[in-house]
Amino acid sequence: MLKHDDNPIDNAQIHDDKESFSSNESGNRPFIDVLQANLSRRKVLAGGAVAAAAGFFSPAASAGIRGWDAGDKSFRDNDRINRELVGFKPVAIEDVVDTRMPTISEDYEYQAIIPWGTPIEPGITNEYAGDPTIRPTSSEAELQIGIGHDGMWFFPIDSSGRDKYGKNYRMRSDDGMLCINHEFGRNSHVLGKSFPESLEDVRLSQHVHGVSVVRIKEHFDGWKVEASDASRRITVNTPVEFSGPATASPLLQNPAGNMPLGTVNNCGSGATPWGTYLTCEENFNGYFGSASLDSDGFNAVRSDEQARYGFDFDGFGYGWHFFDKRFDLSDPEYVNEQHRFGWIVEIDPLDGTKKPVKRTAMGRFKHEAVAIAESKNGRIAAYMGDDQRFDYCYKYVSNEAWETAIEEGKSPLDDGKLYVARYNDDGTGEWMELTIDNPLLGERFADQAELLVYARVAADILGATPMDRPEWTTIGKNGEVYWTLTNNTQREVADAANPQAPNSDGHIIRTLDSGDHLGTTFTWEIYLLSSDTRGTEGVFTDPDLAWADNSGRLFIGTDGGQPDGLQDQLTVIDTNKKVPEPKRLLVGVASDEVTGFTVTPDRRTAFVNLQHPGNGNPSSTNFPAVPDGTTIPRDCTLVLRRKNGAIIGS
Ligand code: FEO
Ligand code: CA
Ligand code: CA
Ligand code: CA
Repeated sequence: MLKHDDNPIDNAQIHDDKESFSSNESGNRPFIDVLQANLSRRKVLAGGAVAAAAGFFSPAASAGIRGWDAGDKSFRDNDRINRELVGFKPVAIEDVVDTRMPTISEDYEYQAIIPWGTPIEPGITNEYAGDPTIRPTSSEAELQIGIGHDGMWFFPIDSSGRDKYGKNYRMRSDDGMLCINHEFGRNSHVLGKSFPESLEDVRLSQHVHGVSVVRIKEHFDGWKVEASDASRRITVNTPVEFSGPATASPLLQNPAGNMPLGTVNNCGSGATPWGTYLTCEENFNGYFGSASLDSDGFNAVRSDEQARYGFDFDGFGYGWHFFDKRFDLSDPEYVNEQHRFGWIVEIDPLDGTKKPVKRTAMGRFKHEAVAIAESKNGRIAAYMGDDQRFDYCYKYVSNEAWETAIEEGKSPLDDGKLYVARYNDDGTGEWMELTIDNPLLGERFADQAELLVYARVAADILGATPMDRPEWTTIGKNGEVYWTLTNNTQREVADAANPQAPNSDGHIIRTLDSGDHLGTTFTWEIYLLSSDTRGTEGVFTDPDLAWADNSGRLFIGTDGGQPDGLQDQLTVIDTNKKVPEPKRLLVGVASDEVTGFTVTPDRRTAFVNLQHPGNGNPSSTNFPAVPDGTTIPRDCTLVLRRKNGAIIGS
């Protein structure tokens, strides 16, 4: 039954195992027939060049697209090294000799902070420091930094208070609330055994998942956790609210009448122009299972929608459903609990009394991450990937300017349109609206609420383009959107937007919307094929994390086995250059993933996460402890600084 945890595999596989199989039976392969005959990579790149000539960086699209997420614009990016935007000395392949510790560019330094088990405020509970003979209790874990560090965002604190939109007047770069996702931790890492034996074990597993909101402040000797009224843990047991069109849907109510609780498998992140944190629920299906049915029994009663969202009888082997009825798919009292996950969740980083809010207008799927662009008229567009093999790229557009909506007491994330992408083979694309007013969808769904709960099914019906696992999105300095497609070893037939079959190394697409992010068409090109970096010093594969600053630097974190003896890495690309030249800033430790990225407003400090170091195995690394062969390695955040204090990535 526990085939995942019994296997001494790495976490990429627990993440990837069932998860990476396609659940998309829609047959949406719109370009296969057109393109399979003789599509070559060169032709695809040539197609991209045509898109560029057609106005990829037209002036109309270049203004006003960066919100506060890129740092304070008053800080000038004038400290380039050697006149290069990305001027640091990269980590060479041969520099990576001991993967028990990270390797960083000699121009940079790091500090490891907030490892799993750190009290979220000093002194409020014990610290778990990686002693292999013990684990935290579930009540300790509820007050500690969780595991599986992933997406995050730094929100500066300022004693001068907030303006009417909740945004800070002055942005400090040495004191802030860090919102950080705790995507997942395997039972063997968290519990020290492959399966829970009690509700207490399940509660411990649950409490190391979720989100931390923690205050961190820079001192002369480094960054430290400090006390704050806003500090808190948000777990799968924390009260939450639903908002938007599906709020009152019967699909979100249970016969048990239990109030909405919690968030889980929080993968990537985003931030809004009004200063809130967005956390994305990705592989939520893996925490559900059937306590009473075996595989055949469950498959006999499984709905098409459950199949499309990847539910099965044992999930990913966490075993929560044996001790917590909410996660038992066969318990009729909790029949709709499964629909309460798979959303984007908004969190106020500076007000600990506010409940997290699930924004149903943005659709239910395996949300990887979200990047928000602001159009010149103040409306916002949110670009979002659904990370599974052969799943889709989405965009949400607010109906009103965000400031207007907030002045009217509404959320810009509740009232808007949701679109899914179709990539045409000529470098154009269409955003197809997922609306009940479309007769094709009106025929299938009772109302917009049901459509949003089953957004994947609606996207199938409209013929969206199945992609090679859409992970993060980020907005470049000219309003272009970068989409990481991490890999797809099951692709058998290439198409224009996914030009390799199988796609073992992944690629990055960039799109540019028509209509200042509000339009229903876009142009696109393949920005980079990871396989093209093989044989070069900048080699990387499996792009996942993506974050662009407003000077043209693109930061990419990887998640997957790296070539040439490397571990997962953080690489930086100057997108102003015609040909991407990745420069390696950091290499993580054995079996980790490098993910999550955020900067202080002055962009002189960055934070990046090492997720599942050593997959919890102390014989491969003990990080952040120095190598001793026994201390359990713990997920942690690295604070990065250029030694000369220059802007991150320079
Ligand atoms: Fe949680 Fe798709 O990475
Ligand atoms: Ca991950
Ligand atoms: Ca990811
Ligand atoms: Ca990934």
